[in-house]
Amino acid sequence: MRILITGGSGQVGTALRRSAPDGALLRAPPSKDLDIRSAASVKAAFSAWRPDLVVNAAAYTQVDRAEEETDLAMRVNASGAGNLAEACAARGCPLIHLSTDYVFDGRKRGPYLEDDPPAPLNAYGLSKLQGERAVRGNLEEHLILRVSWVFGATGSNFVKTMTSLSERDEVRVVDDQHGTPCAAHGIAAAIWRIAGQKARPSGTYHFASAPVTTWYEFARATFASLREADPNARTPVLVPIPTAERPTAAERPLNSVLDGAKLQADFGIPPADWRVELDATVRQLVRNERT
Ligand SMILES: NC(=O)c1ccc[n+]([C@@H]2O[C@H](COP(=O)([O-])OP(=O)(O)OC[C@H]3O[C@@H](n4cnc5c(N)ncnc54)[C@H](OP(=O)(O)O)[C@@H]3O)[C@@H](O)[C@H]2O)c1
Repeated sequence: MRILITGGSGQVGTALRRSAPDGALLRAPPSKDLDIRSAASVKAAFSAWRPDLVVNAAAYTQVDRAEEETDLAMRVNASGAGNLAEACAARGCPLIHLSTDYVFDGRKRGPYLEDDPPAPLNAYGLSKLQGERAVRGNLEEHLILRVSWVFGATGSNFVKTMTSLSERDEVRVVDDQHGTPCAAHGIAAAIWRIAGQKARPSGTYHFASAPVTTWYEFARATFASLREADPNARTPVLVPIPTAERPTAAERPLNSVLDGAKLQADFGIPPADWRVELDATVRQLVRNERT
């Protein structure tokens, strides 16, 4: 199977490249060679590789900066997704497209289901929602996988930010936003499992993990993992604060919890325990630091 991956240098893209199943022929051009904002660039990549499946892990992911660079976020996350969907439709190949918990406003009590009404609070979330609509509108054979709070040993993410602050005396972390962290390699494993099914992918799914946590609790767990991986590591005093004390350019949902029951029922992919994946990630970060 010939697979085209966009965003191959990102967190999920890297995990996808590193965990590709035997027999998968991958092409993951850098964004300078395949810029999804350009329909011509997308078309050229399709002509060159003739994919049987496309996985779109490319995105503009700077949530706060998107408030200012809204046009850029829209061109990558909305038009870019649309360009890929149109090219897939022309070629007759399916698209697995990644989206986000930030399509929701977080006001629901309890985990979000796939057909709960989206209502993004920020420009990034709106751009991702427009991307979902562009995919659904242009291509029948699509699977949209919404993920949340992505972390891993590569790229920029909360776990890496926290470990980089480990020498500080005190770190204040928001404790009223609830969600479920998702390991990039867990998302990649789910995508490869979906891609390996005989049935053509279709519909919208939530990738969930467990247990539900807050950024503060996630930070606590990160530093506990760090102390376990490196008994000499210094870790800061953690102070829980409300979102109101840490204003950001982009408003974030207080409830980002996704319900993964549909993914489990249709694909046999159960929610992962992010604490196990966090331990492995922090051990990898400590190893990277030592080499
Ligand atoms: N990170 C999170 O916490 C989070 C949460 C929920 C959902 N998601 C979604 O999960 C998916 C993967 O996120 P991630 O964290 O792996 O992203 P990431 O690490 O920020 O990587 C983004 C990737 O997109 C590429 N890219 C950006 N603009 C592009 C363009 N115009 N054309 C082609 N490629 C372009 C980047 O390439 P360059 O490096 O060359 O720019 C990079 O490879 C995205 O759909 C994101 O919206 C992420």
